[in-house]
Amino acid sequence: MRITTAIAALILGVSAHAAKPAHDIETRIDDLLGKMTLEEKIGQLNQYTGSGYSPDMSGRVKAGMVGSILNEVNPETVNALQRDAVENSRLGIPLVFARDVIHGFRTIFPIPLGQGATWNPALVEEGSAIAAQEASSTGIRWTFSPMVDIARDARWGRIAEGYGEDPVLTSAMGVAAIKGYQGDDLTKPGTMAACVKHFACYGAAESGRDYNTTWVPMELLHDVYLPPFEAGAKAGAATFMCSFNDINGVPSSGNPYLLRDILRDKWQWDGLMVSDWNSITEMINHGFCADRSDAAMKAALAGVDMDMEGHAYDNNLAALVNSGAVPMETIDNMVRNVLRLKFRLGLFDNPYVDMATANRFYTPEALDAARRTAEESAILLTNSGILPLGKRPGKIFVTGPMADAPHDQNGTWCFDLEKSHTVTPLAALREKYGKAVSYSPGLTYSRDKNTDFGKALEMAADADVILYFAGEEAVLSGEAHSRADITLPGAQTEYLRALAATGKPVVTVIMAGRPLAIPEECNLSKAVLYSFHPGTMGGPALANVISGDAAPGGRLPVSIPRMSGQVPLYYACKNTGRPTTEMTLIDDIPLEAGQTSTGCTSFFLDAGHEPLFPFGYGLGYTSFAYGTPVLSATEMPADGSIDISCTVTNTGKRSGSDVVQLYVRDPVASLARPVKELKAFEKITLAPGESRTVSFTLPASALAFHNAKGEAVIEAGDFLLWVDDSSACKSKPVEFRIK
Ligand code: GLC
Repeated sequence: MRITTAIAALILGVSAHAAKPAHDIETRIDDLLGKMTLEEKIGQLNQYTGSGYSPDMSGRVKAGMVGSILNEVNPETVNALQRDAVENSRLGIPLVFARDVIHGFRTIFPIPLGQGATWNPALVEEGSAIAAQEASSTGIRWTFSPMVDIARDARWGRIAEGYGEDPVLTSAMGVAAIKGYQGDDLTKPGTMAACVKHFACYGAAESGRDYNTTWVPMELLHDVYLPPFEAGAKAGAATFMCSFNDINGVPSSGNPYLLRDILRDKWQWDGLMVSDWNSITEMINHGFCADRSDAAMKAALAGVDMDMEGHAYDNNLAALVNSGAVPMETIDNMVRNVLRLKFRLGLFDNPYVDMATANRFYTPEALDAARRTAEESAILLTNSGILPLGKRPGKIFVTGPMADAPHDQNGTWCFDLEKSHTVTPLAALREKYGKAVSYSPGLTYSRDKNTDFGKALEMAADADVILYFAGEEAVLSGEAHSRADITLPGAQTEYLRALAATGKPVVTVIMAGRPLAIPEECNLSKAVLYSFHPGTMGGPALANVISGDAAPGGRLPVSIPRMSGQVPLYYACKNTGRPTTEMTLIDDIPLEAGQTSTGCTSFFLDAGHEPLFPFGYGLGYTSFAYGTPVLSATEMPADGSIDISCTVTNTGKRSGSDVVQLYVRDPVASLARPVKELKAFEKITLAPGESRTVSFTLPASALAFHNAKGEAVIEAGDFLLWVDDSSACKSKPVEFRIK
């Protein structure tokens, strides 16, 4: 298996729009626009949430007052409302139906953070295509996914919905999701318009508290937060969604620098920009707008085409146009973007759900893909050698609040989950090991504080191995669900102490929506397997990995902290003037120690400075050796590139995959640069003893960074380069220079 994702490939995303020539669509748009009244134009700019077929919604649709409906997933109702639009309104403009299909529709895949852990864009594309097939079979043709917000603070609940802390990994996964949703022809049934969100900097929320303000200087905005959105725009994403937050005091819903200067002028993107839920009206709460009319004006002028449930546009735009505050040309361009989406989706030619193929879910192919994704997202953090268990490990005691949690195993944003279809680890282990498996939860849910573990401990003491499934309920991550303390909730750690005290070996499996600070849990366990809420087939996937029928294919898409207080925490950090060369940890400090005795460098007395586990890290069931990288040249011009190759060998006894990662450092520049940055990666699978030479092309442009004006600069000088298996980069770097 070769999945090559170099930086250049990210930008060359293939536009996934309709097969119809663009001029044909633009001609049809102009023709239609010329017939529309102002009220009908404004009607297209409104998105309302559905709740079945009602006379009120039907009446508004027939009057041409609705452009899109979200959250209606009954195909009969979709078709009934669509008939009102197409056959019973003056101009017959179809509706577009939307839904948050974030990591699957009925067949639930691992949460996006888990999909990021696969480092396998092809798998993400496959799963997104399946999600599109399932959702579009109910009439949904627009999903509000992928979320490509960079997240470096695990307190933030929505870290679950993105692909982690790194722009290159996030860009690759976001592009893969867009390709999966949109396919190669968006007019085909079975496809959905993607929506790149939340534009922008939503993951920079101060202190990780959701919706909080952000302070993002131009250098950071352009170096870290914008690249995944640019990759999405260039990959042909049909829509974008602006974010709730303000950036340096300007809410994204009213930010022309973001929505026009960057998205339209610099990136030349021509899709549809939708607000987040009520985010236009919420600019009043921000203190940025006086009232809904002011909010509607600022959002329209800034570049928000469609108002999601904000009721700002529907009641105010007509007066704003008549007063001249909002030019008709602005309205026309907003309507063009809405009509263009509908033409690109083929809705004018094919508006209805084919009831003969409606509601098609849980195909064997979908379930197989969900299991493979969950296997490839499982990250083995520690292993004494107890894993894999093999075929006959003796008596297995399965326990913990996540062992048989068919709802919570799927994680956040599963609006269409049917938990009866979830296969839990308990069910899968019973299938695999039969009567060797005994079970008692010990704790009934992740926040359970009951420390009377009862018969569970007796059963644990009688087992040969304990499988402890711990973590977070689904509701503890996702929107509005930030946590200040990112340790295991409830009495889960106390319960693990009691299990370990039985003297029997414990394998701990964490299912969570975020990285959790688990240093003690690692010390108490013989192995720790991390699974970001793995979805419908998480049980079979984890049972296969635990038994050895599959290998853990995951690598961390985010750093795992030792303590909550370490976050925000990320590998691509600055060296500072006091890099940590020496430190004395809190329990090692002598009494009455002198002020400067602990080492005046950058670290925490009680947490040090390193993560518990670094970005890109993960163990497998075999081992790999990396050769010294070979460069095609040791210097290149600012418009040149260098080819890098590295030979990787499977030095173990079973086949396995590894993610070959290329990092670069610019040790001296006009702005202090990160100690390293991921520039490319490739996931490979090797048989025992097999070697493969992995090659990357690194253009000098990938080494650009941005100045205070947001301008990209490439500076001459020396660079360090690693090809390694994680951001820890234990190998010796090689050098090259830009002349
Ligand atoms: C929510 C979320 C956004 C979602 C939208 C529609 O508040 O912020 O990600 O797509 O509303 O549900």
